[in-house]
Amino acid sequence: MMIKWAFNFRAWQPTRSEWMFCGQCIQNEEKDRIQRFVFKKDAKAAMVGRLLIRKVIADCLKIPYKEIRLGRTEKGKPFLENLGHENFSFNVSHHGDLTVLAASTEGLVGVDVMKYEIKTSVPNFFHTMRRQFTESEWIQIRKSKDKREQLKTFYRLWCLKESYVKALGTGIGFDISRVNFDFKTDFLQENTISVDTSMTVDGVHYPEWVFEEHSLNNHCIVVAQNQKNMSDSHNQPEATSKSFELLSFSDLMECASPLSDQDEEFWENFEPKDEAPQIRQKNAA
Ligand SMILES: CC(C)(COP(=O)(O)OP(=O)(O)OC[C@H]1O[C@@H](n2cnc3c(N)ncnc32)[C@H](O)[C@@H]1OP(=O)(O)O)[C@@H](O)C(=O)NCCC(=O)NCCS
Repeated sequence: MMIKWAFNFRAWQPTRSEWMFCGQCIQNEEKDRIQRFVFKKDAKAAMVGRLLIRKVIADCLKIPYKEIRLGRTEKGKPFLENLGHENFSFNVSHHGDLTVLAASTEGLVGVDVMKYEIKTSVPNFFHTMRRQFTESEWIQIRKSKDKREQLKTFYRLWCLKESYVKALGTGIGFDISRVNFDFKTDFLQENTISVDTSMTVDGVHYPEWVFEEHSLNNHCIVVAQNQKNMSDSHNQPEATSKSFELLSFSDLMECASPLSDQDEEFWENFEPKDEAPQIRQKNAA
């Protein structure tokens, strides 16, 4: 079973009681981490990530919310400390407007989301990133003459690489230029899912890794899954190709219950923050 959820954290303007309740529903060390963000958008993105993880564990594994104990690996990847659920894999990502989660009961998953944002100078941007992609990936990026389309392919390849690295949990230590992706579908269309991209690492093909590519609300989302130990009935692209479900705040909190007491300071820390950095006007006085 594969779960794919998304939540629009940019559209969410938490009330005092909502934010305080969210703070009560996550572990203290995560609450402390969230308080250290400078901007509201980042605090909300991370908060939603924690709540999505707790929700999927409570829903799928039927572990009472209060008993869920999450840890992090040395490289920062969250995992479930409760014993007996080693086959359950989950991962979250946040960028743009969305926090997304992918979880599976059969095989390792990683997920990455990127909003298609236009950079002022595409050539300069590509130049800085030249070493992250292989020769054949640059050919794919430049297949379209349209700069926006090139940028979309760039973000798509970025998400593919990140989703794989995130499934492995290796973090920044992994040289991602060793990984190469080949497209069968050159351009992703909005609201479609593609599962025909293949991967090589150091030139070796790994057919057990399946990459589900989604284009949703101007975001690219990739779910990487290792299907090596999956039963044949699940090992079909059709079986996994369901879209991400956009959750509401009440969906997110459906089975949430507090782990700690109400904390007024958690709201007082959040409320005065700016939503996001101010974008400087080019000709501002
Ligand atoms: C750690 C890393 C995987 C996070 O990726 P990111 O794009 O910054 O952030 P995302 O929003 O996708 O994911 C963040 C979430 O992934 C999870 N995460 C953290 N470390 C992780 C790891 N080592 N592996 C998998 N998941 C991890 C956490 O849930 C985290 O949420 P949090 O920050 O709120 O705790 C990333 O920093 C990294 O190391 N990247 C790989 C190397 C690289 O150069 N990539 C470029 C691609 S072209």
